[in-house]
Amino acid sequence: MARIELVDWPHTLENSGETVLDTMMINGVPFPFSCGAGDCGACKGHVLQGKVEHLPCPESTLSKEERDQGLVLACRCTPKSDIRLQTLGELVHMPPVVQQFGRVVHQEVRGGGVAVIRVALRKAVEFRPGQYFMLKFGALPARAYSVASVPGSTELEFHIRRVEGGKTSTLVTQPGLTGQYARVEGPYGHGYWREQHAGPIVAIGGGTGLAPMWSIVLSALSGSARREVHLYYAARTADDCYWEQELVELARRHPHVRLHNTLSRLQTPDARAPIPQRAQRVTDALREDFKSLAGAKLYIAGPPAQVAAVSAVARELGLDNRDLHTDPFSDNPEHHQDSWFKRTMHRWHIRREARHWRHHPEPAQR
Ligand SMILES: Cc1cc2nc3c(=O)[nH]c(=O)nc-3n(C[C@H](O)[C@H](O)[C@H](O)COP(=O)(O)OP(=O)(O)OC[C@H]3O[C@@H](n4cnc5c(N)ncnc54)[C@H](O)[C@@H]3O)c2cc1C
Ligand code: FES
Repeated sequence: MARIELVDWPHTLENSGETVLDTMMINGVPFPFSCGAGDCGACKGHVLQGKVEHLPCPESTLSKEERDQGLVLACRCTPKSDIRLQTLGELVHMPPVVQQFGRVVHQEVRGGGVAVIRVALRKAVEFRPGQYFMLKFGALPARAYSVASVPGSTELEFHIRRVEGGKTSTLVTQPGLTGQYARVEGPYGHGYWREQHAGPIVAIGGGTGLAPMWSIVLSALSGSARREVHLYYAARTADDCYWEQELVELARRHPHVRLHNTLSRLQTPDARAPIPQRAQRVTDALREDFKSLAGAKLYIAGPPAQVAAVSAVARELGLDNRDLHTDPFSDNPEHHQDSWFKRTMHRWHIRREARHWRHHPEPAQR
């Protein structure tokens, strides 16, 4: 049995062969994580003493150079000896995970095979902008969907794209969902808005990855209407743009917000498009728009390959790892398979965490 010592945590933890992240959850440590499957990097840490065994994970989430520097993904490693670990993120109180039944009160099927739905709950649920919930319709499997609305309402809005052959997304994007009930469980995820950071925000939504970015940007602007915000909506073609009217309205209300619509498969931008189009990938747009991202916070959600490519460019542009907050829409089966265990542990973790934070002041967020 190996022991894990965590910087800023008062107790030594015992590991019985499970991943380091599972040890954290079993022991109620508020260690940051999101996908639990090696895709997002939220659980990245630095091993200061001891050795770990790395489980397979994409090079884009943890590069060879990072491994050589002693960096690990807590969800993709097991200790080979006693270790001393420091998270690159932060140990912070998160809203409790709760489960409620909600009723779909609005469904609108838009361009690009995207349904915008609103689910009414009996009681408003606490979450941070950028987080996601697990939605379960009838006997279909529960799936993760990011909230597009801002906290405080009894209705949660989701943007759901139809995936070919997909169980839940097919149901949700077929007309006739209004009135149906869904089990809503959450919130989850560490790609949430860091409210105390006053610097520039770069928010990138790939496809329906726009949903959590919308929640983050609206929340940030409601706190400080003049803050520097760059919102990129990245899609393939103009037909994929399901949120155009709302983006136009945002540009009208907040003219200082830099809005970009990057379209990777577009040949010639349409000069009459209400949101200026850029016929390029979002990674190329970032390289063009920023000499340096140092001091900014970058949030990105959407297809895992796009999240990985943007993360690499952001690091090239000088963004600190701690200022990169990602939410890859992974279809990695591990995300689903592990979810029961992880969710159970998460609830346990939240209860124990609540006890911990009553006695320890919350560290400052970056
Ligand atoms: C943290 C998180 C947040 C998410 N938020 C959103 C969101 O806000 N909006 C949204 O539309 N989706 C989101 N997703 C994706 C969503 O959870 C489902 O994976 C997706 O809707 C497909 O579910 P399904 O039941 O229809 O497909 P399944 O029946 O699970 O899969 C059917 C087939 O489609 C493939 N597949 C599954 N998911 C995807 C995918 N995302 N892209 C490409 N192929 C896929 C599978 O490998 C399989 O071959 C999120 C995923 C994660 C992990
Ligand atoms: S990479 Fe570990 S939680 Fe996402």
